[in-house]
Order: sequence, then structure tokens, then C-alpha cells
Amino acid sequence: MTKVLVATDKPFAPVAIKGIRKVVEEAGFELVLLENYTTPQDFINAVAEVDAVIIRSDKATKEVIDAGKKLKIIVRAGAGYDNIDLAAATAKGVVAMNTPGQNSNAVAELALGMMVYYARNFYNGKSGFELKGKKLGIHAYGFVGKNVARIAKGFGMDVYAFDPFLPKSEIEKDGVKWVGTVEELYSTCHFVSLHIPANNQTKQSINYSLLSKMPVPACLINTARAEVIHEAELLKMFQERKDFAYLSDVEPTNKAEIENAFKAKFFCTPKKMGAQTEEANVNAGIAAANQIVRFIKHGDKTFQVNK
Ligand code: 3PG
Repeated sequence: MTKVLVATDKPFAPVAIKGIRKVVEEAGFELVLLENYTTPQDFINAVAEVDAVIIRSDKATKEVIDAGKKLKIIVRAGAGYDNIDLAAATAKGVVAMNTPGQNSNAVAELALGMMVYYARNFYNGKSGFELKGKKLGIHAYGFVGKNVARIAKGFGMDVYAFDPFLPKSEIEKDGVKWVGTVEELYSTCHFVSLHIPANNQTKQSINYSLLSKMPVPACLINTARAEVIHEAELLKMFQERKDFAYLSDVEPTNKAEIENAFKAKFFCTPKKMGAQTEEANVNAGIAAANQIVRFIKHGDKTFQVNK
């Protein structure tokens, strides 16, 4: 029987597992659960006998992929697939997919939530400020960026976006101001929210040269990936700009150093939780299960990312 493994060290909400199970079992497949696992070896052991895998930020390394003797497909229930070794998957003829857009509202709500938390001094009782009228720059206008724009407009923010892969009209139709260069986005906006993927072009690209262009006071929000930040230069920005704040859902490797020195201007969630809502889990988890069923039964490769 076709076996579908859900391997998540940060589990989906129970309601999402219920939905995934329904899709898998109605297709005549068997669901295998590996939740809260603690070592990569647990994942390697579990993948050995399955045909398909659903993961979140779990690392689908070459070792994992090679251990899947019957493995045909891996679906990342979410947007970013930087946790899948695509070359290893391709070499082994394993299809890799993501589920674009399914968890984007949850991530966008967290980005705005962190901004309010910061603007109100982390709820410490002291007088803060309002987001209304402030300039927000959205760095990459994909599914999450679009949701951030929609919510920020509800707050009355002045919203700008930069995305080198989209025509101007795609941004302007949402009532968002189009910006032609990344430098212009940073030099215009007091708040910048990151929505870029982590890849060879973007890793460490958010550096001092870009951040130091931001007007005073500046606030960077990262619900994307830790790897896109140049961490040594982020620290330099903190040291040189007392107005600079960094709100992050992805833990920097120099977190302790930043926290000790710049506590009043830094917030980081204890665990990545942008997509950690029942709704996002249901949307992304069930989409992943449906994609697996469609691929195994009909060869449908929509959303394949290792072409
Ligand atoms: C994504 O890429 O979809 C988000 O970063 C969510 O990641 P998660 O599923 O590990 O919470």
C-alpha cells in the first residue's frame, strides 16, 4: 500500500492532521506520523519504507532522500523549500513540491503583530507610537508580501513594495507604491518587512549598506529566513544606529549577543511561528496531501520545484 509520511519536528495542529488523514485514507493510502522527532536519524529511519513525505521546515537532506528506497515525492507544506536538497531529489528522481500561498496570511498577521508589539514598547506600559501614516516597505511582493500590504493598509500605513520579478502594474493595482530599486525601498521606509526566499542570490544580502540607508527611526521585520541577513553587519547597524529595531521570527545565530546589548530594540520569537496557526496548518497540510494524491494517481506535477 502507498504510504505517506508526515515528518514534522514542529507538529501541525490536530485538526490539520485529521484533514490530512482523511485525504490520504480516502485515496486508499496509509498515513504514517513522525511528530516531535529529535534527531535526523529518526527521519532517516521513518522515510525508509514510504512513497511520499510531507514536511515543514524539516531538513530533507541527501541522507534522508537516499534513505527513501520507495520515495517518489516530498512536499514542503509551506512556501520556502530551502530545507530540501533539490539536487539530491532530482538525482534520485524524487519530485519536490511546495504549497505556495497556503500559509501566507498567518505569516503576514504575525509580521503586523510584531510591529504593533514594538510600536507599543513591547507592552511595558510606556507611551508608544501608532503605525498609521508610517511608511512600510515590503521587500518581495509574493503571497506573504501581498497579505502584509492588505493588512498594513487597514492600519492606515503608507505601503511601498519592491519586487524585481513583478511588473509595476501588479503592485500598483493593490494601491501599493511601486519602488524600482531595493536601495530606494530602504531609503524611503521606516519599516521594512522581508519576504524574500533564502537562496544563493539572497543569502546575507540584507547588509549594513542597505540597512544604513533607512530613515530614522528604522525597524526591520524578518518573518522570512535568518540566512538572508548579514548577521555581523546587523550587529554593526545596532551599534551605530540607536534608533534601529529588529523584529524576527527566525532566530539569528548571534541572538544572545544582540539580546544582551540591544534588548529594548530587539524581539525574536522563541520558535518560528509565523505559519503556526490552525488555519495555516489546515491549508498547507491538506494542500500537500492533495498534491501527493494527484501526483501518485495522475502524475500531476503542479508546484514541482526541482524541474
Ligand atoms: C514557510 O516557508 O512556509 C514558512 O517559513 C513556514 O515554516 P514552518 O512550516 O516551518 O512554520
